[in-house]
Amino acid sequence: MKINKYHRPIGIFDSGVGGLSVLEEVRRQYPLEDWIYIADQIHVPYGPRSREEVLGYSEGIVRYLLGKGAKLIIVACNTASAVALAELRKKYPDVPFVGMEPAVKPAAEGTSSGVVGVLATPATFQGDLYSSTVEKFARGVEILKDTCPGLVGQIEGGKIDDPLTRNILEKALTPMLEKGVDEVVMGCTHYPFVIPIIREIVGKEVRVIDPAPAVARQAGRLLETFDLKADRDREGEGHFQTTGDPGKLEKLVGELIEIQTEVNKLVWDGGNLQEE
Ligand code: DGL
Repeated sequence: MKINKYHRPIGIFDSGVGGLSVLEEVRRQYPLEDWIYIADQIHVPYGPRSREEVLGYSEGIVRYLLGKGAKLIIVACNTASAVALAELRKKYPDVPFVGMEPAVKPAAEGTSSGVVGVLATPATFQGDLYSSTVEKFARGVEILKDTCPGLVGQIEGGKIDDPLTRNILEKALTPMLEKGVDEVVMGCTHYPFVIPIIREIVGKEVRVIDPAPAVARQAGRLLETFDLKADRDREGEGHFQTTGDPGKLEKLVGELIEIQTEVNKLVWDGGNLQEE
């Protein structure tokens, strides 16, 4: 049976478990949609990698997702968005893409102190997407940046409650607090999973911005615009796939977004992804 355009899956990917923070919102806002989630965990973290590497991985994943019939692609990774989103849109002009960009705009609009903190990977800060967002929306606002070295690895390792995780965050946030930050932006999709610790460190007066709800809303707008929204009387279904260890991802998906599921293994073959 040929599946109609409305009921093709949404494709969503990240270097690892970060994109689960976006997937959770997409499922909450659009529960009828089917989806495929890909975690490229053999290559995580993307943040310190070269532009060429991240571009190659992103293109390979998107090719695979389109081969599986994805009707819309969410690049649920700030790093991959910074490096590859413009190229992907150029390469596939008919495919709707949703990407991540650090939520500097709402932070700049909301700040009273005029000092905003952004936590993101080195590749995100180096990308044109970040500089053009700052240029457009944050003139006159002081932006303090931190790459939180090691934090993605801690989250991938399921070590949220580990003292090192808190140390990394304290090291990033204490100097920001000393300079009067009152908005902190999660510029990496892994970081929303440590928001409870961030809140403990920064206190109630500082707003912590997770872009996932806005990103999911944008996905919904594109589904409407392209006339692709699922319309049926059952809940959507999804599949998780990883280039890393499926058992490890199964455990993390259970811990981070409370879904008990089976994860399938994907392997890289040159620049292409294949099922094992
Ligand atoms: N979750 C990613 C991001 O939003 C990638 C982190 C990484 O792999 O370095 O940037």
